[in-house]
Amino acid sequence: MTPTIRLAKEADLPAIVQIYNEAIPGRMATADTAPVMVEERLEWFRQHDPSVHPIFVCEEAGRIIGWTSLSAFYGRPAYQKTVEVSTYVTTRRHRAGVGTALREHVLSACDRYGIKTVLSFVFAHNVPSIRLNEKFGFAKWGHLPRVAELDGIERDLVIMGKRLAERKSNKAPRGRAAPQRPRSVGESRRGRQR
Ligand SMILES: CC(C)(COP(=O)(O)OP(=O)(O)OC[C@H]1O[C@@H](n2cnc3c(N)ncnc32)[C@H](O)[C@@H]1OP(=O)(O)O)[C@@H](O)C(=O)NCCC(=O)NCCS
Repeated sequence: MTPTIRLAKEADLPAIVQIYNEAIPGRMATADTAPVMVEERLEWFRQHDPSVHPIFVCEEAGRIIGWTSLSAFYGRPAYQKTVEVSTYVTTRRHRAGVGTALREHVLSACDRYGIKTVLSFVFAHNVPSIRLNEKFGFAKWGHLPRVAELDGIERDLVIMGKRLAERKSNKAPRGRAAPQRPRSVGESRRGRQR
């Protein structure tokens, strides 16, 4: 069955958390060092108002196989048009184009959300994520040396960023994006990257 990408529902949270937790032992994706509980992530989920900071899931045969989110950067008004992107794909489906499809989907949605700048915070040793960012035209904007310690090893954090194309028309102002119909991964992959 062709995977589809749609806005996440609260009922998807256990699957979202499970995929997040899969990434923790690898010590590459996140600064969390122990599995998180679904209840702990409920507030995070609810902070992602789908009309401002969406979470999208990729679903295949009724199962969530990956997700991506746009989160507030600092949460202060002046940073309203800047977001942080996160993308997680279940380990068993790595390198099958799911991360690419999710990124294409979320980046092409940014215009509707009035977003101008997308940031990605990644450990310098997270090669898959850095490559994924580069594939979408993100450049290295910052390097924070040895700011994290994972299993006794100090790790660098890289800030990657992408400035999106300027809007040409006077579309809906930022803050309320129109609801979006689910799209198949194939359809999403045919879409243009911003
Ligand atoms: C990063 C991640 C989302 C990529 O998802 P994916 O579905 O495997 O990615 P894709 O198959 O679409 O590959 C996209 C690109 O990423 C790069 N990439 C993915 N895995 C890679 C690997 N193991 N080594 C090197 N490059 C890799 C490649 O450039 C690839 O493009 P290509 O296939 O055209 O060469 C996935 O590895 C993941 O979930 N990692 C754990 C979570 C994480 O680190 N998230 C980032 C922090 S928010």
